[in-house]
Amino acid sequence: MFLSRLIAKHKGMGRTAAMQAIAGKKVKVDDRVVTDGQHEVDRFSTVWLDDTLVQQGEQALYIMLHKPVGYLSATSDPQHPTVLELIDHPARETLHIAGRLDRSSSGLLLLTNDGRWSKRLTEPDEKVAKVYLVGTAEPIAPEAVELFARGFYFHTEDLTTLPAELEILGERLARVTLHEGRYHQIKRMFHRVSNRVVSLHRESIGSLALPPDFRPGEWREIVP
Ligand code: URA
Repeated sequence: MFLSRLIAKHKGMGRTAAMQAIAGKKVKVDDRVVTDGQHEVDRFSTVWLDDTLVQQGEQALYIMLHKPVGYLSATSDPQHPTVLELIDHPARETLHIAGRLDRSSSGLLLLTNDGRWSKRLTEPDEKVAKVYLVGTAEPIAPEAVELFARGFYFHTEDLTTLPAELEILGERLARVTLHEGRYHQIKRMFHRVSNRVVSLHRESIGSLALPPDFRPGEWREIVP
């Protein structure tokens, strides 16, 4: 919301007084004086009006995890271990997953309590690149490169997948870059070229890459 709105709500100050206070350099957001009433604030912003605390910002949490095979990308499940069980952090119950991986997949998984950040990473419109290393049961046909770039029509969702890059690294090994994250997308794409995924590992999401020394199950807080 706009800073002016937050200040106006404070002790029923009203909009005019709020705008005057902001223009008069009386308001600080995260230790900086802000003079623009349209400055965006959220639940993570700490806001002061003179020496009165208007809002104490919550701690935003961003976590990178190397998801091991066999763990469910969910916060709780009666049957399978979940990725949340791997994260020994006092605020882990506030986390949600920014882009799931199948139970049989491994690699980079991001968790946060910041819904705006996770939305930016996962919305197809944002076209954030997600890079996967894929092992297949059959040799990968060179024609698949063109087909992945063209996109596949998925009947269930009634959509055509965005252009994806397929780089053939070996007879049964490829690197795939997606700009969206549809249900079982890579498995379904390989199925369309008469192949089957036997291993799937996410290497990166946008500019965030899994460090090479990061073992399955390891996690750390990040500053995105
Ligand atoms: N595509 C899949 O099929 N599975 C994943 O886990 C990620 C992308």
